[in-house]
Amino acid sequence: MTTDAAGAWDAEPQAVVSPLSVAAIFLVAVVNPGPGCADAVRQLCGDLAGLVRAVGFRDLDGFLSCVTGFGAAAWDRLAGGPRPAGLHPFQEIHAGDRHAVGTPGDVLFHIRATRMDLCFELATQIMARLGDTVTVVDEVHGFRYFDERDVIGFVDGTENPVGQAAVDAAIIGGEDPAFAGGSYVIVQKYLHDMDAWNALTTEEQEKIIGRTKLADIELDDATKPSFAHNALTTITENGQEVKILRDNMPFGAVGKGEYGTYFIGYARSPATTEQMLLNMFVGRPEGNYDRLLDVSRAVTGNLFFVPSVPVLEGLADGEPAAAEPAAASGSAAVPAPPDTGSPAPSARSGSLNIGSLRGASQDE
Ligand code: HEM
Repeated sequence: MTTDAAGAWDAEPQAVVSPLSVAAIFLVAVVNPGPGCADAVRQLCGDLAGLVRAVGFRDLDGFLSCVTGFGAAAWDRLAGGPRPAGLHPFQEIHAGDRHAVGTPGDVLFHIRATRMDLCFELATQIMARLGDTVTVVDEVHGFRYFDERDVIGFVDGTENPVGQAAVDAAIIGGEDPAFAGGSYVIVQKYLHDMDAWNALTTEEQEKIIGRTKLADIELDDATKPSFAHNALTTITENGQEVKILRDNMPFGAVGKGEYGTYFIGYARSPATTEQMLLNMFVGRPEGNYDRLLDVSRAVTGNLFFVPSVPVLEGLADGEPAAAEPAAASGSAAVPAPPDTGSPAPSARSGSLNIGSLRGASQDE
């Protein structure tokens, strides 16, 4: 790690800012109890880059990448030392019959490539290393659907930031120096009621999304309702739009009637994505909620911290993430707990237990 002229830490990020991929595997796992289990995950962290190189070298045009993230309780257990400033258990939201659920998840592997076989091989190698030290609680194989569309037929990802704007949106900088180069990622697996969606006219669907269906043009202000998805997920602070970086993927199983969107959003602060979720589920103003949620149901929900490459690799050496700058920056300091296999008490209570809209998470 180095520091820049302003004294901010500047560590290499994982492959967070990558072009939208054609194939992806989302693996969410829980680390099983017992000291050996945490050790196995720590050791893997040191070898992940080598595994990605070994599998990815078989087709360099496949652009294989893997981003690894950790839930709050897992971070405390695996890393000890200070906790990244924005890391806390996923904040559930209950509003009317809408529910942003929080579900178990210690580790996320977000594997992307232009070919599913590369993703599958890497996932296989990762699981061969971890064996029964983890339990996979959710596994989704996502595919690119026509021209970047989700299964409800709309182009998804258009307004993503690119280039430096993507880095600025997704990568932690000097605001949390010990964890600079890291990111936060929120994932939610949504299932769509396709019969209900298809019963709507194209014009009704376009008003729900806020863009035209075929040409993907944003509706003008006179036509776009204030409850449109792209209106409620636009966050402005001090006159500036605050973006996140998404790489949603369609998935499904026709025999089960399962049609879904795997939402994944990276941000330098989870507060941005959390505000979008509040706007969608509760509404802005309250009650003016996202009508996508009348036909789509979130069945998982997790927040993970994605450490920079050196911090990820440092886990293998049992090095708690660089403690000095974190202490100086006010990151929540959590003493390294003995590895009993249970989440540390501080992790269970979370650090953002705000408001009655947000219920207990899976960690509580
Ligand atoms: C059912 C799940 C979801 C579906 C099918 C979906 C689909 C879409 C589509 C079609 C667009 C318009 C094209 C684009 O700019 O990408 C969009 C925009 C966007 N979505 Fe979602 N989305 C989902 C969930 C979410 C969630 C949970 C969040 C955040 C918490 C989110 C954040 C955004 C943002 C920030 C934009 C861009 C808004 C703008 O700047 O115009 N989406 N989404």
